[in-house]
Amino acid sequence: MAEAINHDPRLAVEIAGIRFNNPVIGASGTFGYGLEFAELIDLNRLGGFATKGLSARPLSGNPPPRIVETHGGMLNAIGLQNIGARAFIKEKLPPLRRYDTRIIANVFGYSDDDYVEAITILNDGEGIAAYELNISCPNVKEGGIVIGNSPESAARLTEKARRASTRPLIVKLSPNVTDVTLVAREIAGAGADCLSLINTIVGMSVDVNTRRPRLSYGTGGLSGPAIRPIAVRMVYEVARAVDVPLIGIGGIACATDALEFIIAGATAIQIGTANYYDPTVTMKVIDGLSAHCQRDRIKALNSLTKSISTE
Ligand SMILES: Cc1cc2nc3c(=O)[nH]c(=O)nc-3n(C[C@H](O)[C@H](O)[C@H](O)COP(=O)(O)O)c2cc1C
Repeated sequence: MAEAINHDPRLAVEIAGIRFNNPVIGASGTFGYGLEFAELIDLNRLGGFATKGLSARPLSGNPPPRIVETHGGMLNAIGLQNIGARAFIKEKLPPLRRYDTRIIANVFGYSDDDYVEAITILNDGEGIAAYELNISCPNVKEGGIVIGNSPESAARLTEKARRASTRPLIVKLSPNVTDVTLVAREIAGAGADCLSLINTIVGMSVDVNTRRPRLSYGTGGLSGPAIRPIAVRMVYEVARAVDVPLIGIGGIACATDALEFIIAGATAIQIGTANYYDPTVTMKVIDGLSAHCQRDRIKALNSLTKSISTE
C-alpha cells in the first residue's frame, strides 16, 4: 500500500482527466522505470514519471560512447535501449503499482505499426495513467524525429495512436524544427490530449585528437540547463497555438526554472538531466513550488499557467 503523504493541495493539477498530486514529473530516459529512484526519493511524493521509451520488442540501443558532457548539459545517443513493453508489464508494473504516483508509459517505434503494436500491448498494463508518444528522438535513423518533424506524418501517427489507445495520449514534440507551432497544431488537431515539449536538440561534439565525433552515433541530443531558454520559448509559442494542456521540459533544475515554464504556458513540467547530478532534485522542486505559493499567497499553482505578461 502507498504510504499516506500530506500533499500540498495547492500543487495538484489535472491533465486529460488525470489528477497529479503535483506538477513535477520525472522525464523519460532519465528516470529508468521509476523503481531505480525508489531508494533515493519517496516516489509517493512525486507527481509522476515517464518511463524510458518502450517499444513492442526489446532494443539494445547504440554502441558506446553514448554520453558526452557539455557546458551546461550533455549530449546523448542512447538510441532507445529498453526491455520491451511486455517485460515492462510483467516485471516493472507490479512493484510500481505500490506507489501513489502517475505512471506515464513513453512509447517508441520505427514505424506507425510499431507504435500501435506497443500501445496495444501496454493497454493490458494495469496502473498506466497515460501514454507519451516519443516522435522526437534524434538518435535513431527511422521513427522518432523522422516522424515528429513532419506535420503530416506526426498527425497521421497521432490519429492511429489515438484509435489504438485506451488511455490519454501525450505527444512529445521535437525542437528540431523551424516553427514548432506548425506540427503542434496538426498533432492537437489529430486528437492528442496533451503535448509535452521539448525533446533534446540535435548536437555534435568532436574529439580534436582523433578528429572523430565523441559519440559513436556521430550526433546526439543536447539536454540540460543549456537548452532551457529554447524550451521556454517553445512552450510560450505552442501555448498560443493550441488549446490542449502542455507539459514543459528542458533544463529544469529548481523551482524557479519550473515556474518559468508554468508562467509561459505549461500545466506540468518534467525534469530530466538534473536527476543525474542530483537524484533528489524532483523533491526539492516540489518543496520550492510550495514555498513559492506560500510566499505569494497563491491558492492554486495552476492559476499561474499561461499568466505571462508581455506588455
Ligand atoms: C540519456 C537520455 C535519454 C533519453 N531518453 C528518452 C526517451 O527514451 N524518450 C523520450 O521521449 N525522451 C528521452 N529523453 C529526453 C528527455 O526526456 C527530455 O525531453 C530532455 O532530456 C530535455 O529535458 P532535460 O533538459 O531536463 O534533460 C532522453 C534524455 C536523456 C538525457
